[in-house]
Amino acid sequence: MSKKVLLSGIKPTGKLHIANYFGAMKQFVNLANEYESYIFIADYHALNFIKNKEEMKQNITDVLLDYLAVGLDPEKVTIFKQSDISEHTELTWIFDTITTMPYLELAHAYKDARAKNKEINVGTFNYPMLMAADILLYNPEVVPVGQDQKQHVEYARDTAQKFNRIFGETFKLPKEIIMENTANIPGTDGRKMSKSYGNTIPLFAEYEEIKKCVMGIVTDSSGGIPQNVYAIHKLFRSEEELKKIYEEKSGKYKELKEALIEDIEKFIAPLRAKRKEFEKDIPKALAILKAGGEKAKIVAKAKMEEVKEKIGVNVY
Ligand code: ADP
Ligand code: TRP
Repeated sequence: MSKKVLLSGIKPTGKLHIANYFGAMKQFVNLANEYESYIFIADYHALNFIKNKEEMKQNITDVLLDYLAVGLDPEKVTIFKQSDISEHTELTWIFDTITTMPYLELAHAYKDARAKNKEINVGTFNYPMLMAADILLYNPEVVPVGQDQKQHVEYARDTAQKFNRIFGETFKLPKEIIMENTANIPGTDGRKMSKSYGNTIPLFAEYEEIKKCVMGIVTDSSGGIPQNVYAIHKLFRSEEELKKIYEEKSGKYKELKEALIEDIEKFIAPLRAKRKEFEKDIPKALAILKAGGEKAKIVAKAKMEEVKEKIGVNVY
């Protein structure tokens, strides 16, 4: 029996952080044996944010090295880049024709951008349709993501249902996998950790950088437990162990932060070393990405053929 399919992706918009890892990437690695996995770099999504050729190239290479360093094994996982598979944007157009504007206006990302009075480009408005295409082309059963992506996976599911209703059964309905304890990891300022808030602890940070980030964690002034420190510490140690440490050092914020620094360093040091190994041969890493794209293309192309047949543009 063939394995069920898993698909997920990350935008190459900046340095990945520990919440990207615990919220999403860790699941990619843990589930790689159980599922036939497709993990991609969402570079066309990133184009909404990055308008600089060198930066885009660097970011794509960085996410690729990050994927490899956290243990995604290209023998088991198809690692590819969105822009290598033109079917993603092709299917987006077809979805656009069955989707209404009021429906897209309900998307959180769009509403947030509007609330901030930002000038919103069509790419941002249409983001959920590109993401629906990313997902549905590969018939995945599951999409592991953090809480903030839940709505986007719902958009994909709704879009699949709508297409199936109009043109006949074509797409499987995907389901998000969100880990309860790591769905919404706070950053150093207590808000959701996010590249765009500048409140992250980078996943491959050097010791000094870890120190700086942790020392900068905003601590509340009441109670012996600094909540923001504890919430991050929970990622690296069991609550049982933490209880002891936080009781012993109750109120001693500096010492608690020092304990956290050591735990993060213990976790990151081997990842950093692995990444440095991959960095030594970037052409080899890029060859993995290219080969992954060739594999993914076969699947996406077949699905697109089916779609074209269903909508009636296949006349030959
Ligand atoms: P960012 O908000 O830093 O730009 P992305 O949107 O690129 O992060 O997210 C990549 C993946 O990491 C997504 O699956 C997302 O849900 C997950 N993720 C991002 N931030 C967090 C967080 N603070 N807690 C849990 N998961 C997160
Ligand atoms: N929107 C996701 C994010 O911001 C990235 C993404 C794009 C994605 N397409 C996807 C995630 C398809 C899962 C499946 O993190």
